[in-house]
Amino acid sequence: MNYTLSADNTSITFDGTKLAAEDSPLFGKSLTLEAITHQTLRIHTKKLHVHDSYAIEKLPTAKGSFRIEEKDGFVFLYTEYLCIRVDNALFIDIYDADGKLLCADYTGSVPAPETMTPQERDQLAQEGHVVPEENRSYSYQVRKALSDGECIYGLGDKTGFLNKRGYDYMMWNSDLPHPHVENPTFKALYKSIPFFMVHCTEYSYGIFADNPHKSFFDMGYEDNAYYCFSATAGEMDYFFMSGTLPEIIASYTELTGRAPLPQLWTLGYHQSRWSYSTQDEVLSVAQHFRKNNIPCDAIHLDIDYMEDFKVFTNDNDRFPNLTVLSDRLNDMGIKLVTIIDPGVKVETGYPLYEEGIQKGYFAMTSDGDVYENKVWPGDSVFPDFTSEAVRQWWGDQITFQMKHQIRGIWNDMNEPASFNGPLPDDVVFPGDPDTASLTHSDVHNVYGHLMAKATYEGWKRLDSKRPFVITRACYSGSQKYSTAWTGDNQSLWSHLKMSIPQLLNLGMSGMPLIGTDIGGFGANTTPELLCRWIQASCFAPLFRNHSAKYTRRQEPWQFDETTLEIYRKYVDLRYRFIPYMYDLCYEETVTGLPLLRPLVLHYPKDPAVFECNDEYLVGDRVLVAPITDQGARSRAVYLPEGEWVDYWTGVRIEGGKYILREAPPDMCPMYILSGSIIPNYPAMQSIEPDNIDTLRLLVYPDSQGNVSPYRHYQDNGEDFQYEQGSYNLYEFHLDGEKNIAVKNLHTGYSPYKEIDIDWR
Ligand code: GLC
Repeated sequence: MNYTLSADNTSITFDGTKLAAEDSPLFGKSLTLEAITHQTLRIHTKKLHVHDSYAIEKLPTAKGSFRIEEKDGFVFLYTEYLCIRVDNALFIDIYDADGKLLCADYTGSVPAPETMTPQERDQLAQEGHVVPEENRSYSYQVRKALSDGECIYGLGDKTGFLNKRGYDYMMWNSDLPHPHVENPTFKALYKSIPFFMVHCTEYSYGIFADNPHKSFFDMGYEDNAYYCFSATAGEMDYFFMSGTLPEIIASYTELTGRAPLPQLWTLGYHQSRWSYSTQDEVLSVAQHFRKNNIPCDAIHLDIDYMEDFKVFTNDNDRFPNLTVLSDRLNDMGIKLVTIIDPGVKVETGYPLYEEGIQKGYFAMTSDGDVYENKVWPGDSVFPDFTSEAVRQWWGDQITFQMKHQIRGIWNDMNEPASFNGPLPDDVVFPGDPDTASLTHSDVHNVYGHLMAKATYEGWKRLDSKRPFVITRACYSGSQKYSTAWTGDNQSLWSHLKMSIPQLLNLGMSGMPLIGTDIGGFGANTTPELLCRWIQASCFAPLFRNHSAKYTRRQEPWQFDETTLEIYRKYVDLRYRFIPYMYDLCYEETVTGLPLLRPLVLHYPKDPAVFECNDEYLVGDRVLVAPITDQGARSRAVYLPEGEWVDYWTGVRIEGGKYILREAPPDMCPMYILSGSIIPNYPAMQSIEPDNIDTLRLLVYPDSQGNVSPYRHYQDNGEDFQYEQGSYNLYEFHLDGEKNIAVKNLHTGYSPYKEIDIDWR
């Protein structure tokens, strides 16, 4: 075997050019392995070792290296934690340091693709059935063996359940307003996050297939013996990460970045509707929150605040003075967030359009004309976010939001969505003078990601506050710039149920600050569905009720008194837990771990939780088991090992078993791991960090009276002064019997006036 090892032993290239396509999965290319760290490998066929990635801005500083040994016709590469065996056909098997096989290239037989006659295809199509795509063409395909007991998690926002094994997915950001039913109909949704983790009781590993082109992930659908991933273009380039599930998430987010600390108010409640259509209507919505004593921190303006849907404008008849509106809302503790869409209206005299045309900032047809399609404004053009100059220009437009004291930006339709058929693959994105121009097929899956980057960076240039961006379309790494929501769900019980695995998989895919439209976007909610949704979403980092035009209104006061009370109870509960959630945001910046976690992240040896789709952990010590079935008044709850305290009754239950929990309409079962401290705020209507002077610690000693130490983070919740040390880090721990002592690990911000202890 011919290979070349780099001088620093971090990278090795095997010459595969003489291998025949039938012998090797590499199509006769060379294979390079790089030891990114001792736990993370990069495996690729690119000629240059450059990291031309949209997801990765910088590689980890800690490098790994290889020790090499040739034995029995194989080449063995050793890092501190891994052993990689490479054979003559360049198939690779990866073992841990103890010699346990983690991940092997699949070398067995593959079934012939199912064929259909044209008549059969017509027959299916006649009645409107989904007709499977004809043979896919790939530029590479990686096939790995699957073993019994392995589950697969991640892949972003895909429909269905927690375990992705047995299904077939596509990465092609798609705007799908019709109900997102589970697979196999919906292979793609709004986001492309080509990262997944394989897990069983014995080991876990992760793969990040960094390729923005249309790609396919068959997770044991074609054959239970293997999974495979492939792309229509681009070179094979994937990262292999070993360790426990949390370690793999840490490695993945070390590569692709972590969500920065959000502003504290963004963790509060947000109300939205497509659309609040006048300034007065917005004020009246705000007044209803205050009158009904329901906390609220933000109201979102959907597309109707704009003049003819022209981005960065306002409609002077319906929203004559956004600044006054912002001020009036601000007096009530409520912030204004506005939607923006990438489609720029084609209209002579519209400055954004004219300037963009003049500077060549929009995507072009292959014949060199500016490319047009239709979105909300009618004929529209699409900014070329692959260009740094365009991103800068777009970011500068945020002066509109600054001028009107708007506090957040909601990026929509950035797959990009288009009403007049999809953008042709050959639409050109010219880029900057010093970069190669790209086509729509190259950049489709990163369009929303680059728009989010432009928005985040623009906001950061113009304002000292931490940018608050929401995006619908994403690629790996979008978490550095934006929060995200799961797009156009519907007011369906099945969508409420699916929201749990969807958020958990997004979280495991590096996106911690996420949420679904509470109550459902499309179709009509019912009071019961809305109540169960606010319960199930109570800890969703992005906590927003949003609904579509011409659907039943779903602000909490639109129904009866009972609905209002239940709604209020859970929004109140959320606000109490905000310091705990903010601590988790801080923890995420260090570990990459999401706020909402599937039980398997903390109980990886317990197969009973591997497919737990209807419960989640908030951090590692709060377990939520929402009701997601109409009419249900009780449910089975699985409590993993340890002692759990029923949050509502204080009853202590030994875990490692299912229990039956009563759950009347106002009850969302919740449990606290005994031995925990949980910080709470007092009740409040909106989050004003300067006015928060009391912290309450809920202390749940375990049966021996022990309490684990807890770290709490506090800062002004608004800007970047924490980077200069303006924050407090406390450690609360048990000191003697029934006494909680405070250790100041870092002091740099005005401390609480009072810390109350609430023994539970
Ligand atoms: C898209 C968004 C939705 C928004 C609507 C109008 O459907 O997903 O949230 O309300 O467009 O802007």
